[in-house]
Amino acid sequence: MTLIKKTPAPSASQHVVLLGSKRSKFGSFGLNKSELDYVHSQIEKKDKKIVVVNQLSRYVIVQLIEPKNQKHDTLEVCRKAGSAICGMLNDQKVTEVTIVDMENKPAETLALAEGIALGNYQFIKYKTDKKKETNTLATINVNSKNVSLKQIEHLQIAVDATSQARTLVNEPVIFLTATQLSKEFQRMGKEAGFSVEVFNKSKIESLKMGGLLAVNTGSPDPPTFTIMEYKPSRPKNKKPYVLVGKGVVFDTGGLSLKPTPNSMDLMKCDMSGAAAVGGTMYAIAKAKLPVHVVGLVPATDNRPGGNAYTPGDVITMMSGLTVEVLNTDAEGRMILADALHYAKKYAPELCIDLATLTGAAMAAIGKYGTVAMGTAGERWMGKLKASGNNVYERLAEFPFWDEYDDLIKSSVAEIKNIGGPHGGAITAGKFLQRFTDYPWIHLDIAGPAFLTQNDPYKPYGGTGVGVRLLFDFFKNLS
Ligand code: BES
Ligand code: MN
Ligand code: ZN
Repeated sequence: MTLIKKTPAPSASQHVVLLGSKRSKFGSFGLNKSELDYVHSQIEKKDKKIVVVNQLSRYVIVQLIEPKNQKHDTLEVCRKAGSAICGMLNDQKVTEVTIVDMENKPAETLALAEGIALGNYQFIKYKTDKKKETNTLATINVNSKNVSLKQIEHLQIAVDATSQARTLVNEPVIFLTATQLSKEFQRMGKEAGFSVEVFNKSKIESLKMGGLLAVNTGSPDPPTFTIMEYKPSRPKNKKPYVLVGKGVVFDTGGLSLKPTPNSMDLMKCDMSGAAAVGGTMYAIAKAKLPVHVVGLVPATDNRPGGNAYTPGDVITMMSGLTVEVLNTDAEGRMILADALHYAKKYAPELCIDLATLTGAAMAAIGKYGTVAMGTAGERWMGKLKASGNNVYERLAEFPFWDEYDDLIKSSVAEIKNIGGPHGGAITAGKFLQRFTDYPWIHLDIAGPAFLTQNDPYKPYGGTGVGVRLLFDFFKNLS
């Protein structure tokens, strides 16, 4: 865990990042004449954006802000710069660094700190020599007069919550079964201060959650259904916000088995929606935001064992709607349908679901953003898109026209669990819509949830996408 602190001006012995512009007076931070000349020549003659001065006992890193046309693009450049600096500091076995905001740019300074902290994330639980593997960097000090203690605290929370979500995604199913996932949520609830209730298989049976039970039939491990709730004493909202996360702890495809390379081998990520919901609950509770939020996670693995649900089967969902299963690999919508139906009892102000739902969403826009659609209307969608830009977890809104409903009509049941060859992300959303009766936004995070290569401030594996998005969204509502 990386600690982020607000600090007064650094002493001449501390490693520093001087965040500034060409005009900044870098001279007042312990650089001698020749070092200063070197910095200026690199910046002016060579147009360098980053200059590192190695004073042997410490590093002075001069980082220029590269302004873009839009503020949120500038902040993203700062996060990426932070991530590069993080790598450099760990290479040099540095344990503590101080960022100095030279030009009164609090947002850019925070973004740089965020990039360092998120880039410092590691998943090394299963490495033998953890001491050797552990990044040295442990503390980031922020020296900026217009960064508030509250902003620092919120940044710390966002980073911690994102890290927790990443770790849940990175855990393999041999550890992270549906039961273990619900235990992790219980732990997070205790730590952050939200309540957690877990329904076991017999409770799920008594509630007739037909979709969740159908997907679970091929597995020796039981399903769980987790309800998280954070209700402060004076919430701004009368009706709760409800978050729903897809908790498929592993997706083999079931009888419609996936091929292994670049497909099944990635599918421990199929509970990324659940991780985002847990991480968001953690963040809003830690920050004590004045919003009443409920998180629902239906969880199971999807396997082809025993009496696994089968193409051609007709399943009666919790809502009573019947579904013809034509592909057991379209399992996410089966378990989400019961959770979205369950959400009706809260009469939500707004419901947002997050799911690694379709390869079609990934094919359409890749890892660069989240596919969004729904019935909540422009006002809600606009707010969520704005948060998407703020934290650079951008949303691409897809059409949600009525005509797509025709593509999931079944000849034997009410609906079928796959559409045709076109608009796969949308027909999946249309399936989910049949189980909602409240303002609702569906986020298909199949593209950005899991990386097979390092990206700046997002190391290989789970990204924790959704946590910073929703934390920003709820902060702006409160
Ligand atoms: N979990 C997958 C979707 C997915 C694909 C997530 C790639 C992350 C990366 C989902 O359960 C799935 O298998 N969807 C099928 C649906 C199809 C059978 C209608 C798909 O997209 O191929
Ligand atoms: Mn699947
Ligand atoms: Zn899946």
